[in-house]
Amino acid sequence: MEAYNGCIKPQGNFLFLSLLFLLALLAFANAETHHHQFVVQETPVTRLCKTHNIITVNGQFPGPTLEVRNGDTLVVEVLNSARYNVTIHWHGIRQMRTPWADGPEYVTQCPIKPGASYTYRFTIENQEGTLWWHAHSRWLRATVYGALIIYPKLGTTYPFPKPKHEIPILLGEWWNRDPISVLRQALFTGAAPNVSDAYTINGQTGDLYPCKGTVRFPVKSGETILLRIINAALNQQLFFSVANHRLTVVEADAAYTKPFTTSTLMLGPAQTTNVLLTADQTPGRYYMAARAYASAQNAPFDNTTTTAILEYKSARKGVPSRPTLPMLPAYNDTATVSAFTAQIKSPSKVEVPTQIDENLFFTIGLGFVNCTPGPRCQGPNNTRFAASMNNISFVLPRKTSLLQAYYQNIPGVYTTDFPAVPPIKFNYTGNVSRALWQPRFGTKLYKLKFGSRVQIVLQDTAIFTTDDHPIHLHGYHFYVVGQGTGNFNPRRDTASFNLIDPPQRNTIDVPVGGWAVIRFVADNPGVWMFHCHIDAHLTWGLAMSFLVENGVGKLQSVEPPPADLPPC
Ligand code: C2O
Repeated sequence: MEAYNGCIKPQGNFLFLSLLFLLALLAFANAETHHHQFVVQETPVTRLCKTHNIITVNGQFPGPTLEVRNGDTLVVEVLNSARYNVTIHWHGIRQMRTPWADGPEYVTQCPIKPGASYTYRFTIENQEGTLWWHAHSRWLRATVYGALIIYPKLGTTYPFPKPKHEIPILLGEWWNRDPISVLRQALFTGAAPNVSDAYTINGQTGDLYPCKGTVRFPVKSGETILLRIINAALNQQLFFSVANHRLTVVEADAAYTKPFTTSTLMLGPAQTTNVLLTADQTPGRYYMAARAYASAQNAPFDNTTTTAILEYKSARKGVPSRPTLPMLPAYNDTATVSAFTAQIKSPSKVEVPTQIDENLFFTIGLGFVNCTPGPRCQGPNNTRFAASMNNISFVLPRKTSLLQAYYQNIPGVYTTDFPAVPPIKFNYTGNVSRALWQPRFGTKLYKLKFGSRVQIVLQDTAIFTTDDHPIHLHGYHFYVVGQGTGNFNPRRDTASFNLIDPPQRNTIDVPVGGWAVIRFVADNPGVWMFHCHIDAHLTWGLAMSFLVENGVGKLQSVEPPPADLPPC
């Protein structure tokens, strides 16, 4: 009997193990690797009656849409055939242990020079929804961007009825001049950069501009479609609405939300929102439209409106009537923005860190550098614009990237003394004394131990003017546990935190003249940029970077750099 048992047991184990192995293999077989080539090149494009050479990927504007499933791997070879240095960032992708593929120039890599190439390799781990990719080198993302859509794993589906069609809607910003020369001019004069000449929907300005090009989206009466809306604009928060149609929000920044219905969305630059729309109106043609939400007082902004057409198929025959325009909120309608944002919540109870190891408080806002009157001091009152977090205006290194400096122990590239709290406490949203207007410049990182539980209070300042800032954290998403106006008051405001179902985001539009509090666990080692996604502000230094140390073992450590990482 003993011998018999001894024989059968290992066999049973063997069968069980084989079954496990087979299951693992099946799951693995389901995950795909997608290979793409991105050729960054100059392409002639006509908008607003003029033809320009713009920088595109593969000649497409917007660039190609990448479609993957949760668990898949992307391998994108980027070939730079343009005349500018370039890098590509996969906005919102967590890049677990692969910061080398993240993309911000001089943070995780040196730029890809003209004629050179670099291959980004990364796996999507536990993420699904609408994200996007964009150039992360100076202002190239004005035209170098596209959608990155992550579908649920095979055999799983959305937490809402499957829509009939899905449409990516990329909101963009268009300049009649080369965006790089707009940037250069601003960097020279120290003044605010010229505002854009138009907004776009999927690259087209729409009917309200001269020499119109308008995108049409056909729908059948009664069907429900999913709009994957991405604010790819360089410098502007945008309202979005579809005439006569209600929009049901189901996802933001590639995280599902408790569904709610609204007529207007607001997206900060870089934010994404998925909405369901049911074609339940009188068959006809309806405009979808986007225009600025501009919260800064007395600051010029592009006040034009971009449109596309939602067109019922049954209404296509006959004389096309002028489509109905949606009612968009006033440019400075902060009340509508707060009411909208307050409704975005996780679908159910989530695990928010409650014990905090790193309690950080960052002021965010504009500032000025005093200078001698002249062509290079054309900011307000003979100054140059600057921007900062905790009074440090972020300066990128030039000789190597921060991640390489960290990984290869190159001294003198950065310091790790980014302040955890503002160097001076003041009435942040009140009348700020001029003595506090000038930031200091530095390449300062904040070090985080692997696994530490982090809270950051983001506090807008009223230096020059209050403004809402879309703050983005690379390599992570975070819970937004609280938001409000005025100065953050720990005693009063901590009590009102939502620790049950706060939304998960990768970009938080901090309320104008207010604050937002985010929480995350530092479980992804590497150097991760944290910055305002308004490129004008980023250029002025509204940024910093976190250095998240390795944990224990391979699964908690940064992978070795790829062999083709571009040299500086
Ligand atoms: Cu869209 Cu630094 O990112």
